Amino acid sequence: MIDRIHHVGIVVHSADDALGFFRDTLGLHVTEDRVIDEQGVRGVLLACGENEIELLEPTRDDTGVARFLQSRGQTLHHICFNTDDVNAELARLKAMGVQLIDEEPRDGLAGRIAFIHPKAMHGVLVELATPPDRGHVSTEKGFDHLAVSVADYVAAQESWKHIVGLEVVNEIHPEGRGMVIGQMPCGQVMVELLAATTPDSPLAQRLMEQGERASSMVAIEVKDLDAEVAKYRAKGLTLPDPAVGVLPNSRTSTISAEQAFGLAIQLIEFKR
Ligand code: CO
Repeated sequence: MIDRIHHVGIVVHSADDALGFFRDTLGLHVTEDRVIDEQGVRGVLLACGENEIELLEPTRDDTGVARFLQSRGQTLHHICFNTDDVNAELARLKAMGVQLIDEEPRDGLAGRIAFIHPKAMHGVLVELATPPDRGHVSTEKGFDHLAVSVADYVAAQESWKHIVGLEVVNEIHPEGRGMVIGQMPCGQVMVELLAATTPDSPLAQRLMEQGERASSMVAIEVKDLDAEVAKYRAKGLTLPDPAVGVLPNSRTSTISAEQAFGLAIQLIEFKR
C-alpha cells in the first residue's frame, strides 16, 4: 500500500554544490550518497521529516537523466511514493493496463524501485519505492505540500486515485486566481492538483506553455516565518517579505528555485 511521499527527485549539475545548500544552509541530514554506475548517476538522499529530497547528478552524458538536465535544466524530475510492496503495486498497475517504465522492480537509491510512465500520470514521472529495513524512518512532518498543474482536473483525479490511491478531500478556490486547488493527503503531505477555472488565468497560460507537470517546489511548514526569513537572509539568500498565502490562514515566503538548485522552497506559516 502507498502510505506516504518517499522523496522528490531533482536533477542537478553538481551534487556537491547542491549539498552546500540543502545540507549546509537548510540543515538537512544526508541519509544516502552513492554512485549507481548502471544508471550513470550519483544520488544523494537528504531527510526532511518523514520525506526526503533526492539529488541526481548525471555521471555520464548518455542517460535519460543527463538528457533531462540538458533540455530542462536543474528542476524537479520525479515524485516517489513509499510502498511496503512494490511487487504487488506493479502487479496491480499491470493488471489495470497502466503504462510503466519498469515492468519489474530494480535496485535504486531508495530501495526496490519502479517508475510509472509520466503519460499515465498527467505529465508527472512517478517512482514507487520499497525501502530497505535500514532506510530513513521518521514520524515528523516533512513537506507541507507539493503542487501538480493539470489541464483536465476530472481525468487527473481519476488517475491519481486509481494509480497511487490519492483522493481529493478538500477544494480551495483562491480569490481572483481563476483556479481550483484539489487537496489530496498522502501521509502528512498534501498533494495539490491545480486546475484552471478560467481560460485567461495565469495557470491556464502556464499550462498552455508548459503542459501538465509537477511544480518544482516543496512547501515546508515553519512556526515563525519572520524568524526563518531573517535566518536565511543572514545566510546570504534573497527572500521576499512574508505575504498572505494562497492557502487559508497562511503566510509564505519562498527561497527561489534559482537559489535552491532548481527546487523552490516555500516556507509556510499557518495561524492555527
Ligand atoms: Co527517486
